[in-house]
Amino acid sequence: MAVLPILSIGDPVLREVSRAVSAEELATPALQAFIDDLIETMHAAHGAGLAAPQVGRPVRICAVHIQQNPRYPYKPDFPLTVFVNPTLTRLSGEEESVYEGCLSVPDLRGRVQRAMHVRVDAWDRHGAPFTLEARGLIAGTFQHEFDHLDGLLFVDRVTDPRTLCTWAAFDRFYREAFVAEAMDINRKYVI
Ligand code: NI
Repeated sequence: MAVLPILSIGDPVLREVSRAVSAEELATPALQAFIDDLIETMHAAHGAGLAAPQVGRPVRICAVHIQQNPRYPYKPDFPLTVFVNPTLTRLSGEEESVYEGCLSVPDLRGRVQRAMHVRVDAWDRHGAPFTLEARGLIAGTFQHEFDHLDGLLFVDRVTDPRTLCTWAAFDRFYREAFVAEAMDINRKYVI
């Protein structure tokens, strides 16, 4: 296993529409080893998620794992999950404005509008189809990660660029109020 370099905004690979993965390719030792590396890289960087194009491979695979994440302490825990060829369906019109950050956009956060009730259909890392329904902040995390597979970054979704801030500025000026908002969201959106 290896920790891979994470690409930063400006790298053209981050702007590609990633290609779907076939069941045959997914079963190869090479792709399974890549998925291990993707997970190890996400953990090493303390990411809530990581998408394959962020480590230079434009295929439709991403991982999400939230366990008392130091970058996002207000995010509810979510078990390690690998999504292959995921699709996302909105299940309601509910939306919230939330601060996001991204390992490929160093030292920047900003507010984006995310759907709060979604269904995800994907394969697991062994090609078995699964479906999950999500409400709240985790639904936003899925939208963020799946956006990477379409060449989109959270900055593309920031409707008011005046909300952009460094992590230090976020901590100093916005963290306290946003943590309270996030806790309200956690209470409001339960399955
Ligand atoms: Ni990201």
